[in-house]
Amino acid sequence: LLTCSLAALVAADGDDEFKNYNITNRPFPKGFRFGVATAAYQIEGAWNVDGKGPEVWDDFFHEKPSRSSDGTNGDVATDSYHLYKDDIRCMTEVGVDYSRFSIAWSRILPDGTADKINQKGVDYYINVFKELKAKGIRSFVTMYHWDIPSALQKQGGWLNPKVVDWFEAYAELCYKLFGEYVDSWVTINEPKQICHAGYGAGVFAPGVVSPGVGEYVCARHVLLAHAKAWRLWDEKYRPVFKTQNTIVVDSDWYEPKTYSKEDAEAAEIKRQFVYGMYMNPIIKGDWPEIMTKYVGELSRQQGFNQSRLPPFSEEEKKLIKGTYDYIALNHYTTYMVKARGTKSRSPPVSWEEDAQVDVYQKSTWKTAAIDWFKIVPWGFGKLLRWIKHTYGDVEIVISENGVSDTDRSGTLRDQHRIDYIKSYMSHMLDAIHDGGVNVVSYTLWSIIDNFEWTQGFNGKLGIYFVNQSDPSLPRIAKDSSKYYANVIKTKCLLD
Ligand code: NOJ
Repeated sequence: LLTCSLAALVAADGDDEFKNYNITNRPFPKGFRFGVATAAYQIEGAWNVDGKGPEVWDDFFHEKPSRSSDGTNGDVATDSYHLYKDDIRCMTEVGVDYSRFSIAWSRILPDGTADKINQKGVDYYINVFKELKAKGIRSFVTMYHWDIPSALQKQGGWLNPKVVDWFEAYAELCYKLFGEYVDSWVTINEPKQICHAGYGAGVFAPGVVSPGVGEYVCARHVLLAHAKAWRLWDEKYRPVFKTQNTIVVDSDWYEPKTYSKEDAEAAEIKRQFVYGMYMNPIIKGDWPEIMTKYVGELSRQQGFNQSRLPPFSEEEKKLIKGTYDYIALNHYTTYMVKARGTKSRSPPVSWEEDAQVDVYQKSTWKTAAIDWFKIVPWGFGKLLRWIKHTYGDVEIVISENGVSDTDRSGTLRDQHRIDYIKSYMSHMLDAIHDGGVNVVSYTLWSIIDNFEWTQGFNGKLGIYFVNQSDPSLPRIAKDSSKYYANVIKTKCLLD
């Protein structure tokens, strides 16, 4: 029988092991909400069905199938375009309060701009909204989860200043078409992946390699696009629909290697380069000072006649500042940071190099099939406390958290995922009850195994297995789905 008590509060920050995960049977705050997340390209499939236009990920994998580790792509994915009711049935079984999912820009605007609206694409999303509503599940909707239409990529995509207006127009269409169904909006998901992976390192679509230059231009445009879409909604659509809107920032934790002043500073610099780069502008109106300083200095030394980090005008700063209702964080893992003895002063330039610190993960940390998913629960608690310390008493939504299977082919017996959820939630509850951090909801990635970008189907993060050897792609409950269902039902972190 379940008893939930507050007596078990123990902080175990800094502990490398799972020590804290049996600190369970603690209640979640009143009104706390639980959800699950997906994104269009990872689940919908139907990449060219019913008038959908191509987008950058279609092109990325069609051009070179070896870009995903198992040679697969999102052409069919979990076929949620046709099987969305199956996904929603899983959500009902788990009893979630809301579903976080994304709209594929090119499904409703095949050419990217409002000249041509694809009614069948619009109908698809309306059907999803209606089905969710019928099941009492709220909609938490991302307008952009990395899939810019190919037609816009041909004109430079996120490097073309026009993208700010393209995105604003697309967002306005979303508000008009779907505003009545949406409970909470996200403009853009994980800008660091869009810009650093997509336009810096070039390992994600559209595969543009422009380290330390293109990636900053992209970041500037992403922030302006977000800000314009948010302001438009704030002025015109918030009063009508009374909903909220924000941006989702990817925020793994960066822990200093030692308690030396140098390592502590190095870790803080890294945090500013990773999440400060997006949070500082929306909260305070500008790039973090340390970024402006470091990138400016390095650019001069490298012979650029201006900083590679393009500045915001005073007007732009005003536009961006304050464009959030709450902070939305995707959190998965932790990295160690150490100061660099000798600073690098020469090219190659890159966003990662500009911070001039060294980052690594401990080989002793437990891991899953995707190697970088090191399981470090205490990092989650530290991140949450850092957000409160740095930005004050902001409301926080965990917009993603989760772990891949340990076995690439998948498993229904995912005890390690139950341990992951338990231990991460345990540190989240410490931060809430003990650290006074205002976390109001938690979103598990993901409801079903889906297409994990360059990991293909080798990285399965679902609490439901999708049997791909059966053409009807049945969704089958893993053990973790039952654990999560019980947590939601009891509103208590269970043993
Ligand atoms: C964050 C991304 O938003 C999502 O698309 C991805 O599947 C998860 N991380 C897991 O890597």
